[in-house]
Amino acid sequence: MSYDSLAAQYDRWTREYNGDLPFYVERAREAGGPIVELGVGTGRVAVPTAQAGIAVIGIDSSEGMLAACRRRAEEAGVTHLLDLRLGDIAAPPVQEQTALVTCPYRTMTHLKSDEERRRALEAIHRILVPGGRFTFDVFAPEPGGERDDEEWFTPVPGIEERARWDAKRRAIVLEMRGSDFETTLEWAWVTPEEWRTLLEEAGFEIRACYGWFDLRPAVGPISVFVARRPAAV
Ligand SMILES: C[S@@+](CC[C@H](N)C(=O)[O-])C[C@H]1O[C@@H](n2cnc3c(N)ncnc32)[C@H](O)[C@@H]1O
Repeated sequence: MSYDSLAAQYDRWTREYNGDLPFYVERAREAGGPIVELGVGTGRVAVPTAQAGIAVIGIDSSEGMLAACRRRAEEAGVTHLLDLRLGDIAAPPVQEQTALVTCPYRTMTHLKSDEERRRALEAIHRILVPGGRFTFDVFAPEPGGERDDEEWFTPVPGIEERARWDAKRRAIVLEMRGSDFETTLEWAWVTPEEWRTLLEEAGFEIRACYGWFDLRPAVGPISVFVARRPAAV
């Protein structure tokens, strides 16, 4: 995964994507800190969460993204509320137990195999206190929704991208380039039904599955899951 090459561009690339922020910040307020964010990136969600007064343990496998997150936290004056750790979502370096684990912006689909996804879900289950919640969003093309861009597309000035939705390999591949960088990102093509099965096999109860962060029903390509580690009996 080549997020290191994207770290300097990430905030510009995602500047229009913020509809999830109220949802994730409110879940963190409800749970109380610290919370764990897996794939914390440049702190797009973690910094506003810290600005709401909630401490965040942020895990990411990219040194470059974590460095950008540190800078963003310093600028926002919330360094003391962010505990950033280099590590893998499938084996997160978290010994603490928390009431909330999040994984925003489709990051769970960076896990390539069911085996990796199972390991991650089992680890998340262990991090959560009984009754604690795991909230994350995923994207899956709708049935028959293969797409191959022939042309490069410019989502924001200075960044070009070209997508390939590979139904055979069950992967969404995005090539990106700019004047001083190029990278390829890949997301696994996992259906909401498959996520449900994986969550249940890992011992979660699924409390809700929405189609967007305004809690509309899940009917499109986005699924926002709220899962819970069952309370102790
Ligand atoms: C789409 S970005 C999301 C960043 C942030 N959560 C947000 O919402 O803007 C995905 C992030 O997950 C990280 N990541 C991808 N696979 C990972 C893995 N297996 N373990 C840890 N971090 C991972 C990437 O380095 C990147 O920072």
